[in-house]
Amino acid sequence: MSSPRPEPPLALLAELTHRCPLRCPYCSNPVDLARASAELGTAEWKRVLAEAATLGVLQVHFSGGEPLVRADLDELVAEAARLGLYSNLITSAVLAEPGRMQALASAGLDHVQISVQDADPASADRIGGLKDAHRRKLLVAAQVREAGLALTLNAPVHRQNLDRLEAIIDLAVELGAHRLEVAHVQYYGWALANRAALMPSRSQLDRATEIVTAARVRLKGVLAIDYVVPDYYAARPKACMGGWGRQFLVVNPLGEVLPCHAAPSIPGLVFENVRDRPLAAIWADSPAFEAYRGTAWMAEPCRTCDRREIDWGGCRCQAMALVGNAGATDPACARSPDHAAMVSLASEEATREADDFVYRQIGGLKPA
Ligand code: SF4
Ligand code: FES
Repeated sequence: MSSPRPEPPLALLAELTHRCPLRCPYCSNPVDLARASAELGTAEWKRVLAEAATLGVLQVHFSGGEPLVRADLDELVAEAARLGLYSNLITSAVLAEPGRMQALASAGLDHVQISVQDADPASADRIGGLKDAHRRKLLVAAQVREAGLALTLNAPVHRQNLDRLEAIIDLAVELGAHRLEVAHVQYYGWALANRAALMPSRSQLDRATEIVTAARVRLKGVLAIDYVVPDYYAARPKACMGGWGRQFLVVNPLGEVLPCHAAPSIPGLVFENVRDRPLAAIWADSPAFEAYRGTAWMAEPCRTCDRREIDWGGCRCQAMALVGNAGATDPACARSPDHAAMVSLASEEATREADDFVYRQIGGLKPA
């Protein structure tokens, strides 16, 4: 049954901007990126933070695009701290000048999450689409530690960097990270457009799982490793976003409130805007949140499945992307009638010799 009164969300993902100096081909931003002139202003973001705290949100993740392009980032971090919110900066890090992380720590920032594209500098710069980016990231990671901030390294992995996973783990240790997220790319947004260039093989995946398992034992107490397996090779789906409209809300640069960052890929959903309505009201009954909240929307096999309140039917955006129906069982689930087709698609794409990327850019997908 769907719950008539949703519990308060745990976390707000504040997508301050879609602007970013990197052009990662697996970016989770929508293909249709928002321009700077349309972004929420400082006063509007401060009001969003205050409304989130009142609603019961405990954590705010400042994200993008690249949040460091916002001149008001320190002011927003300070406001989050004043409101008692735990704050995390999700950054590509390449824009941080010396002293920048110390300034953000002084403003009240709690945690920094830096993405790395690879352990090999040339490959990392190619994947991110920006020269010298990898070297600059390493300098900023040192700044984060010097400022006394907790550091997580976020490593999206795929066919073109997975063979260097051991070196990526070593890099996280060298940089003094507390946590490493080894996250197989999830295929929506730009990653869907680049799936044939990113899809790993089954043997690459199995080897990666062995490496992570061994490293977790070897590095116990030194580095925590989170591991997200690729849906295309899974037997059961992940509880995407912890379940639709259960734990997270996303406010995008335009002020639209989304149940997940990829939700605009689902046709027919209408997103209410913080410029028009309070966040608490949107969380409580916005049609976009109600659409897939709880279990009442489910069809078989989810409807009668004993895991329906564990994984909440998986990912709505993936069901949309692969089956054309956001209300279908996520094809990552072996009980889905579409699962076999998903697995054979993954095997076929993993063997293609299509390594060129379509890079992320403002203005959307352009023909290669
Ligand atoms: Fe989850 Fe639905 Fe699969 Fe059951 S049938 S495991 S609820 S996705
Ligand atoms: Fe949207 Fe999974 S990415 S529900």
